[in-house]
Amino acid sequence: MQPIGPLMHEHRLIERMLGILEKEKSRIQEDQAADTQLIDQSVDFFRTFADRCHHGKEEDILFRDLKNKSISKEHQAIMDELIEEHILGRRLVTELDGYNNHLVRSGNGSVNKEIAGTIDKLLNFYSEHIKKEDKDFFHPVMAYFSREEMSGMLQEFDAFEKELLHEKYLGMIRKLEENPVS
Ligand SMILES: [Fe+2]
Ligand SMILES: [Fe+2]
Repeated sequence: MQPIGPLMHEHRLIERMLGILEKEKSRIQEDQAADTQLIDQSVDFFRTFADRCHHGKEEDILFRDLKNKSISKEHQAIMDELIEEHILGRRLVTELDGYNNHLVRSGNGSVNKEIAGTIDKLLNFYSEHIKKEDKDFFHPVMAYFSREEMSGMLQEFDAFEKELLHEKYLGMIRKLEENPVS
C-alpha cells in the first residue's frame, strides 16, 4: 500500500462530516436554531481528526519527506499552497467554535447567520483542498519515493496516530486533575 491510501481514506471520512454540516447549514438557513452540540462535535472532529491527525501526517511525515527530495517547481508550489490552506482551515474552525460558544453563552440565535456563513466557508474550503490533494498532488508525488520509503512512511503514520491518541487523553486527564468537579 502507498502512504496516500490511508490519507485518501481519511478524506472520505472528512467528506462525511462535510455532508452532516451541509444539512445543518440548510436547517439553520430555514430559520432553525443551530445545534450547538453538533457543532461542538464537528469542531472536535476538525481539530483532532482532520487537523492534528490528518494534516499532521501530511505535514509532519509526507511533506517533510518531500522536502528532502528534489521535487518539481509545480509540486513545490502545490505543497506550499496546501500548507497555507491548512492554516486557513484552522482559522475557520476557530471562527466556528467562537460563534458556537457565543451561542451557547447567550442562548439566543443572534449568531445563527454567522454560523451558517462559516460552515459554508468550511465546506467550500475542505472540498477544494481535498480535490487538489486527491487529483493534482498525491498520486504524482508518490513517484519520488521507493517502496521501502513508502513502507517506512506507513509505519510512521501508525506510530503518529498512537501517540496522538495518548496525547489527547493525557491532556484531558491533566485538565480534569487541575480543575476537579467539586
Ligand atoms: Fe491537506
Ligand atoms: Fe488531506
